[in-house]
Amino acid sequence: MSTWTHRHILDLAAFSREDFATVLELAHRFRSMPATGARRLPALQGRLVATLFFEPSTRTRSSFELAAKRLSADVSTFSPSSSSLSKGESLLDTARTYVAMGADMLVVRHRCTGVPRQLADALERTGERTVILNAGDGLHSHPSQGLLDLYTLAYHFDASNPLPEALQGRRVVIVGDILHSRVARSNLWALTACGADVVLCGPPTLVPDAFADFLAAPPPGQTMDPVAQRGSLTIYRDLDAALKGADAVMTLRLQKERMRQHLLSDLDRYHRDYGISHERLARSGASIPVLHPGPVNRGIEMSGALLDDLGSNLVESQVSNGIPIRMALLYLMAAAESSVDSPPLG
Ligand code: NCD
Repeated sequence: MSTWTHRHILDLAAFSREDFATVLELAHRFRSMPATGARRLPALQGRLVATLFFEPSTRTRSSFELAAKRLSADVSTFSPSSSSLSKGESLLDTARTYVAMGADMLVVRHRCTGVPRQLADALERTGERTVILNAGDGLHSHPSQGLLDLYTLAYHFDASNPLPEALQGRRVVIVGDILHSRVARSNLWALTACGADVVLCGPPTLVPDAFADFLAAPPPGQTMDPVAQRGSLTIYRDLDAALKGADAVMTLRLQKERMRQHLLSDLDRYHRDYGISHERLARSGASIPVLHPGPVNRGIEMSGALLDDLGSNLVESQVSNGIPIRMALLYLMAAAESSVDSPPLG
């Protein structure tokens, strides 16, 4: 396992190809643990993981909590509506309350871009050892989702060796509401770092031309790209053309709650142009796996029939792979702070 240098996990733009390999390899070992018997490993015994979700979540929060419990950590769940946030307590003061209770890791989701980084910076300034794991901030980043998508694809392409090499030269289409998607942004960093060629597809209102330069400049606060050679990034407006020769397609939810203006005239038209269905895949001659991070708007970005067809989509695999991926992240962050029990040998 290469040396892990990320104290906080905020953004996949900061990950090298070796970092992706480290997470995938460890997640694969956790995933291969027998489903019965030793379901819990002692690695994080005595550690406190707090999940601070200031935005709704079904999958991500429960997945982090299960991951932490499988590593024997104590878990504390913060719910904004029943907390002192409703009495006006600031975000930082809320986070500090958990730090004062001894939280070793804060898993943070917020609707504003940059909140996890601001919390990490504030804790660094006061010398706290608590680390922050970004569980989705605004439109910016969702590292654990990008990693579980990466693992799901690597496993689909090479189940015996689901590592970054499995993505090399693969054409992966991401279709839909890229503009509002932190999942798409994290996937862009992850997939291209592993050599995949990513095609973004959607109308100009949801996939602006400016996305073509997305990977050109490292994000604020980062001086250089840790990946020497990335796969390519192109934009298509026509989904049938984008799917020609594709190895996988990921469709994204239309994030209506983040749309400030009318970006689409009509949802039936959107489904006709950009929805994924059996008919669409057959027409494109593409017998390829379909991913979706959930939650799905049935019949809009994906047909109900395709969503129910577990032989054609990887949606449930994505959900179940989320647990070993998050175990790997929590484990690596804890191990970077102090010694923890070795992970199981696969
Ligand atoms: C995504 C999110 O919250 O960014 N969902 C998830 O974490 N599984 C995508 C979405 O909300 O559409």
